[in-house]
Amino acid sequence: MTGTTIRLQGCRKAFSDGTVAVDDLNLTIEAGETLAILGPSGCGKTTTLRMIAGLERPDVGQIFFADSDVTRLPIERRDVGMVFQNYALFPNLDVAGNIVYGLKIRGLSPAERNKRCAELLELVGLQDHGKRRIHELSGGQRQRVALARALAPRPRVLLLDEPLAALDAQLRERLRSELDQLLRSLRITSVFVTHDQGEAMALGDRILVMERGRVAQMATPRDIYQQPANAFVASFVGNLNAFPVIEPTAHGLKVSGGELPWKGIPVPKTVYCRPEHLRVMDGAGHVRGRLVGQFFQGAQSRLLVDIGAEQPLLVDSADGVIHATGALIALAIEPHVLFTLHS
Ligand SMILES: Nc1ncnc2c1ncn2[C@@H]1O[C@H](COP(=O)(O)OP(=O)(O)O)[C@@H](O)[C@H]1O
Ligand SMILES: [Mg+2]
Repeated sequence: MTGTTIRLQGCRKAFSDGTVAVDDLNLTIEAGETLAILGPSGCGKTTTLRMIAGLERPDVGQIFFADSDVTRLPIERRDVGMVFQNYALFPNLDVAGNIVYGLKIRGLSPAERNKRCAELLELVGLQDHGKRRIHELSGGQRQRVALARALAPRPRVLLLDEPLAALDAQLRERLRSELDQLLRSLRITSVFVTHDQGEAMALGDRILVMERGRVAQMATPRDIYQQPANAFVASFVGNLNAFPVIEPTAHGLKVSGGELPWKGIPVPKTVYCRPEHLRVMDGAGHVRGRLVGQFFQGAQSRLLVDIGAEQPLLVDSADGVIHATGALIALAIEPHVLFTLHS
């Protein structure tokens, strides 16, 4: 299986009640790439996926698979496999029956279907489960069957809409890493919808962050986290500390609780940093505040430090030190971890 490039050009989709689900969407998904579409509920993720699938036609704009315009092709002529959150398996067929369903329609002989079915059962780790009934399977096994069924006809594109959302946390993590290996070994172009940032980071070669039907940012997980395009992206992917700037000083910026090292011009209204980039100091730091909360998270603790700003600072500390509530905490910040954002 090899994937195809997918290109959306100026796609817009409004529903009859006037809801604009997707607006002026322009993006290219490279052949063999896994794109994670991430965003809050209602931002247009599923609609985007359904337009790529051919289940929804854009009102405006075009969709290309490689060089061919597929905008008006229905799903059965697009060569896509699809996996949904809620399995959507046929309960009256056994596992094998579900997997070969699409192959039968495509006219494969029984011998070819059996061979392909055995390959897929092995691919998703369900050897010896071909004769099982769907209701005898766990949630994770059902989702593997759904994946095998989607892959059976060797599609050019695999589309997954929150495929792990219905599973419990531990299983979700295991299936996530299996899915990751599978997508990498198949080198199929895949688009994966999720509202879970951890999932998007783990599975996506790139992440498309959507906000109200539009592209907020499309980049690698690392770039999304380290160079978020705006405040929406930054606060949606990871946690964020905001320092409203009071005034510039000789060497930096005066903020509530202290002074930050900063050289940039013009003077920003607000500077930001991530919780893991604040370091708890024994003596002096750049900012000081009172500990108002401490949450043990295993490898690290999350501290809430009130510096007199609107929100307490979030500090992720791995030093294992337990502080008393109300203790004075000094925090150091390296200049390069501070950044500004477009609103
Ligand atoms: N068939 C539909 N009819 C009317 N509105 C819809 C329909 N499908 C989705 N919407 C609306 O379009 C917006 C985007 O929906 P959707 O793409 O499902 O978002 P997401 O998958 O990100 O949660 C939402 O406001 C949703 O209510
Ligand atoms: Mg959805």
